[in-house]
Formats: sequence, C-alpha cells, structure tokens
Amino acid sequence: MLRTRRELLRDGARLGAGAALAGPLAHGAAATAVAEAATSAPYAAGLRSLTDEVRLPHLEIDGRLPSWLRGVLVRNGPALFEIGEQQLNHWFDGLAMLHAFAFGAGRVSYANRFLRSSQYLEYKRTGKMAYSEFGTDPCKAIFSGVTSLPVLGKVPNANVSIERLGARFTALTEMPVAVRFDPKALKTLGADGVLPTGRLGTAHPHHDPKTGERFAYEVELVPPTMGLRVLAWSRAGVRRELAFIPQDRPGYLHSFALTARYVAVIAQPFTFDLGKFLKPDRGPIVTNYGWNGSEPARVVIVDRARGGVVATAEVDPFFVFHHVNAYDDARGRVVIDLCAHRDSGIVDALYLKRLRRAGAKVPQAVPRRITVDPASGKAEVRDLAEGNFELPRVDDRLDGREYRYAYGVGVKDPARSGFIDRVSKLDTARGELRHWDERGAYPGEPVFVRRPGATREDDGVLLSVVFDARARTSYLLVLDARDLSEVARAAVPHHIPFGFHGLHAS
Ligand SMILES: [Fe+2]
Repeated sequence: MLRTRRELLRDGARLGAGAALAGPLAHGAAATAVAEAATSAPYAAGLRSLTDEVRLPHLEIDGRLPSWLRGVLVRNGPALFEIGEQQLNHWFDGLAMLHAFAFGAGRVSYANRFLRSSQYLEYKRTGKMAYSEFGTDPCKAIFSGVTSLPVLGKVPNANVSIERLGARFTALTEMPVAVRFDPKALKTLGADGVLPTGRLGTAHPHHDPKTGERFAYEVELVPPTMGLRVLAWSRAGVRRELAFIPQDRPGYLHSFALTARYVAVIAQPFTFDLGKFLKPDRGPIVTNYGWNGSEPARVVIVDRARGGVVATAEVDPFFVFHHVNAYDDARGRVVIDLCAHRDSGIVDALYLKRLRRAGAKVPQAVPRRITVDPASGKAEVRDLAEGNFELPRVDDRLDGREYRYAYGVGVKDPARSGFIDRVSKLDTARGELRHWDERGAYPGEPVFVRRPGATREDDGVLLSVVFDARARTSYLLVLDARDLSEVARAAVPHHIPFGFHGLHAS
C-alpha cells in the first residue's frame, strides 16, 4: 500500500523519539517515560512546557495555502507550566507565550515569544514564582507577615486572548489591564495601566464592527462597591459606564454578549466568597468561588445607548465561559448564543494533574440559545444542536449581528476522551454540527478568515493549531470553512502547548 508523505513523516518522528529514548537516556529514565506514558492521557504531551523561543522563516506545507491568505495569525496561551521547582496547578496558570504565523505568497512563517510579564521576569531573575495566578499562589514563605491577599505584578501574565485596536495589539487575561506587544517581533511593550486591587476584567471585549465602539466589563470583588460594571469606549477611546449591577457574591464571568442595542451579561451561580477570600488560608483566587446549583442564572440586559439595566431574566442554572454571538431579532428580542456547561465542574476538570491523567474526563458544553424579551423579562431557552461545542468563533464582522455559522471545537466521545479532538462547525439555521477530526489530532480554537470578495458567510478558511499526539509536534491546519475539508497544513518542528485564543490580522 502506498503511504502518504504525511504518514512517512509521522513514522519518522516516532522512530526519532524511540531512538532518543534508547540512546542518551539511561535505562531507568526510559522506564520512567514508559510508565508515565501508561498513566498519562494521549494528549498529555500537549500540556508540556515549551521553553524555546524561535523564528522559522518557512514552514513545510502539505497542500496549498490560498494565494489570498495574507496577514498574520497571532495566538496566545500558556507555555510554561512550572516555575523553578513549583508546578503550576491549573491550565489557566501557565506563563503566556505569543505565537505568530505570518502568511504571504503561499508561504507561512512561525515565531513565538514569552510575554515579558512580571511573573516571567521575576522567574528569570530569581528562578521562583513571585505572583498569584488563577489556581496557584507562590510559596507562602515569600510573603509571610506581609499580606494574605494575592500579590500581583505590574504586568499581568496575560495568557488568554489577543485584542487589536488598529495598529495596537494587546494580550489579555481576566485582569482589567492589557499588555501591549508588537505583532511582528512579539516584543512586550508594557502594561496598559495600573492593576487595581480586587477587580477582574474580561479577556473577551467586544468591538461593534459598525460603530467602532468597544465594550467590556469589570467585576469588583471587594468593598465598597461589589458587583459588575458594564463599560463602553467610543471610537476615540472615551470611557463610559453603562451600568453597575451590585452583587454581594459576584458571579464568575469570562465573556459576555453584545447586540446592536444591548449588552447582555450572565450572573451565574458560581460566586465569589469575600469572607473566605479575606482569610489567611484563602488559597488561589479560583478556590474562593463556589457553585450553587439551587440558584438560577440571571441574564442581565443593558441598554447600550441610554445605559441602565432594562431587564433581568432568570433561567435554569448553567455555567458559561464563552458566548458564541448575539443579536436583536425582528421582534425586538435579544438572542444570545453561548456554550453552556451543566455546572462549574469544567473549572476543576482543567487542573493539570487531572487533565494530564489517562482516562481524564472533561465536562462538555452544549451550544444553547437564550432569547430574552426585554419588555417582559421572559426568556426562552433551547439547545441549538445535539453535541458539544466550545471555543466558539464567528466572522468578526458579524459580532452582534444576525448570523448563521459558528466554528469551534469539541470532543468526539465525551464518555471516553478527555480533551478537544475535533473542529466543529455549527449551523444555527439547521441546528447541525459537522466536524473535522483525525486520529491523534487535538485542535485548538479555529479562527475564521474571510475570502476577499466572498458573498457567502462561510466563504473562507479556518486556522487551527493542532497538536499531533503521535508525532508530539504541532501544525497549523487550514480548513475550508464551507465543508471543513482540509486545504493545507504547515508543520512546526516542536509542540505548541494547548492555548486559548487568537486573531487574524490583515
Ligand atoms: Fe476565553
């Protein structure tokens, strides 16, 4: 049987790994590696640290990149999962690395660079963890007698997403301070403000594609004002407060929804316990949140133009990281699509020890539509398709507008597999999901790039960084967004640790 070049390359990489084990490694180390492989999930090597910063002018391409594909895909995610001797606990804790795939003339280059956060710089200086992360605090001895509150650096470890405002690129995490960087050299340019105490932000601001306005929120966790503040910035950058929703126990929030008329935020019953947080043994920030499944989730609708809350609808409890999109329908209702988890169990499932273990099971989200009538405050809830769907993206130009297609990732067999192993396309009109998958492939968030001159909503490509568990390396996968057929893939000679979000900039 003829074998494809891809299969030959993969086998070569496997042989290479085997030869390395048999050669320089001692017998004991080889046995340890084998034992680790037996107890680790098949994708666990995608959660190893990547320490090298590289620039590769040309990646080897299998297939043909579209000639119209230009610009750069910039992605963000954790890449270092231990700081000196300290293991980081949670996937969300790893030190931020930026990755850039730059396209032109049918070719693609790759570069990566750690974000020079305060955490990264202190680690380089002292070899130790200095600041608090989502699920890991630094060794308490460092701070004994100083404070029990989280200690934050000036430049946050912004490992979640990327925002672009014209020529200004920033890396974001759930702090209300962004970190500017240069998208070509990936050099960190500094924090965009001063980190306030006890306040969280969002890694998923919205930009109205028509008005140029920017929307975000801040969650205030400590007195005197505790609650959710919804904010807007004009095209000129003038900040305006749209609403403040007081909350005794502020709900965890990762993203929100925007329509042409409204901002919609979910007050979910995964709430912050200030009393616990103020105790000396409070633990990392995430451990101060608790799930209360007897409480509803509340959908809070805020008027964009006038400000203020116009309606609050109560629905059965669920947990959400990501909104897909939202829009105002012809009847004046607010249609909100999101990835709904049954509860906050996903947060615990993403602790690295659990996630890396063989047989790890990760709770999955369903694509769900919540339609709120602002006049009555009533909500209708229905699932958009059967199956699971996460890390959703749409054509950015349709943010807040009626749309049909979303792209995301999912898990083929949630009962057996712990991690994302397919790319999915959601057709909201037909209520269907279709998929791309391949044995041993673990893809990340697919970013949609529209073909110039396209008239169909899904005429373009999806860009997804895939970890190939068999070769233990990663590649950039290019899919036709219409039918998820493969257009090309560009191989990177190392692994790219599983990341979160990115964007394409032309
Ligand atoms: Fe996110």
